[in-house]
Amino acid sequence: MPTQNSESRTDGWGTRIGVILAVAGSAVGLGNFLRFPGQAAQNGGGAFMIPYFVSLLIIGIPLCWAEWTMGRYGGLKGFNSAPGIYSVLWRSRLAKYVGAVALLIPLIIYMYYVLIEAWCLSYALSYLRGSAGLLGEQADYSAFFGNVVGDSEDGAAFASDGRWVLGVLLLTFVLNFTLIYRGVNKGIETFCKFAMPMLVVLALIVLVRVLTLGTPDPAKPDQSVLGGLGFMWNPDFEALKNPKTWLAASGQIFFSLSVGFGIIINYASYLKRDDDVVLSGLTSSSMNEFFEVCLGGLITLPAAFIFLGMAAGEQGTFGLGFVSLPNVFDQMPGGRWFGCMWFFMLFIAAITSSVSMLQPVIAFLEEGFGLKRPASAAILGLITALGCGFVLYFSGELMALDMFDFWVGSVLLFLLALAQSIIYGWAFGIENGEQEAHVGAHMRIPRFVQYMLKFVVPVYLVVIFAAFVWQNVLSHDPVKATLPESMVPMLKHDAVSAELREMAEEATDGDVTLPEQSKIEDVDRRGSPQVWRVVVSGEEGQQQVLATFNEAREGVELRVHEAGYAEKIAGSRSASLSVLFIGVVFAFLVLLVHLAGMQWESQGRLRFD
Ligand code: ALA
Repeated sequence: MPTQNSESRTDGWGTRIGVILAVAGSAVGLGNFLRFPGQAAQNGGGAFMIPYFVSLLIIGIPLCWAEWTMGRYGGLKGFNSAPGIYSVLWRSRLAKYVGAVALLIPLIIYMYYVLIEAWCLSYALSYLRGSAGLLGEQADYSAFFGNVVGDSEDGAAFASDGRWVLGVLLLTFVLNFTLIYRGVNKGIETFCKFAMPMLVVLALIVLVRVLTLGTPDPAKPDQSVLGGLGFMWNPDFEALKNPKTWLAASGQIFFSLSVGFGIIINYASYLKRDDDVVLSGLTSSSMNEFFEVCLGGLITLPAAFIFLGMAAGEQGTFGLGFVSLPNVFDQMPGGRWFGCMWFFMLFIAAITSSVSMLQPVIAFLEEGFGLKRPASAAILGLITALGCGFVLYFSGELMALDMFDFWVGSVLLFLLALAQSIIYGWAFGIENGEQEAHVGAHMRIPRFVQYMLKFVVPVYLVVIFAAFVWQNVLSHDPVKATLPESMVPMLKHDAVSAELREMAEEATDGDVTLPEQSKIEDVDRRGSPQVWRVVVSGEEGQQQVLATFNEAREGVELRVHEAGYAEKIAGSRSASLSVLFIGVVFAFLVLLVHLAGMQWESQGRLRFD
């Protein structure tokens, strides 16, 4: 088995608080302040917290402990990157290829995460400059955001009025790579030690501002601080019956804790033999929850509700963060400074996460090929710049970003978490795991957690994953309303009439809006019962189905077409190219991992019986 030990390491954590803050820094990010409020609002408000805490307790914290334990163990055997670490835990030549997934995840997520990080800095700088685009009652934030991200069409982010954001992106890249270049101790740890307290202070200032807003518009007494908190937190228990709520909660836990990212395992590999992993893991997870629930949960959505009312919940995550909130800052006294502080806080939260996505790959390049920091940083810089350029170019409808986030930031997170629970529970073994975790530990992990890691977590993940794929990858046509049979003649036309549009909108309480340019197609003229499709012309002449009307016994069902990710790939060139891009990067990593594995074996660092 491996021979190199921790003594030969050149980098490592300086202090215990430093490593806890670095792991917490990796966890606390855009997920806490933007993704969490959006997910909670869309999935039952306060009731979302039930599956959320169930997921935290059943999978989040146990997997965190497993990652910390496996990481430190692998580090002591001389490896800091997932391919090496998994190989010493699971003595199989296949283990290193699972490690390739643990490199792919942070690498691909970095490619879009850093872009959102740059948007945050662009907003903060715009507030600081007091530029016309961001301030003033009539400001159109939708247009401003569209300009920053270039979502109108592919390549729009390179257009002249959005070009200044490219400069900000370059600056963000340089900052990330400076930290990485300086190393774990001098770069990441030093930065997190000052960034994390700063985050708390900035977030608390914005929180106090939000909680003391009262009822800014006396004509709208419901739009008060209490109303805002109620909007975010009042439970809708019906939502618990919907599997989507449970899926969203588990996904949020992974994303937020940085579990299944291949990050914690890398960070923990720099620990020394007697460094505690149990209390440290719990502390960093708890810090993340404080930021997420107490700060993210009390600021973003309540603030948006106070000024925008129910409309606050209708925006997606980006709409909430980059369109609604700037509107809110515009309307609050001192909004320019609070806006600047808020977006700067988001930027700091994001950078402590994005550097943690670079470190696993840097570690791999160095230990796999004996590269020195300048070479490893240069190679990683090139790959990430390419990927980020790809996301930036395919900015139409933010398609590349959406694809990377779905296939890697959701699907692969589930799969890597599953693989890790199997490696820990079955390959390494929970007896070894328990013993290893408690070396130097400041508290004990209850025994049943080990059994949960071996039996419950994998089963829970398989079930959740299957439901997730069914829900999101496949397309669905849920019934939204049943309309009277008397409307059938309206469907026997090519065009969607104003009357039909109104009827659909009214019957679904505004959920369904059929655009004027949509057309009606008779799916099967001889069919009985009959089905009509409402379509619009999409990219490259392809037709996009919006809804179907199905003749049913009691009337005509209006079903809305919800395209799954499989259909999105089939129907859009940029979506399919994005998936291809991920595949190419993965193939490249598998090749590198293969070569590194051969080298480790020839050096005697890895031996298989
Ligand atoms: N855990 C990081 C976040 O929540 C990725 O943003």
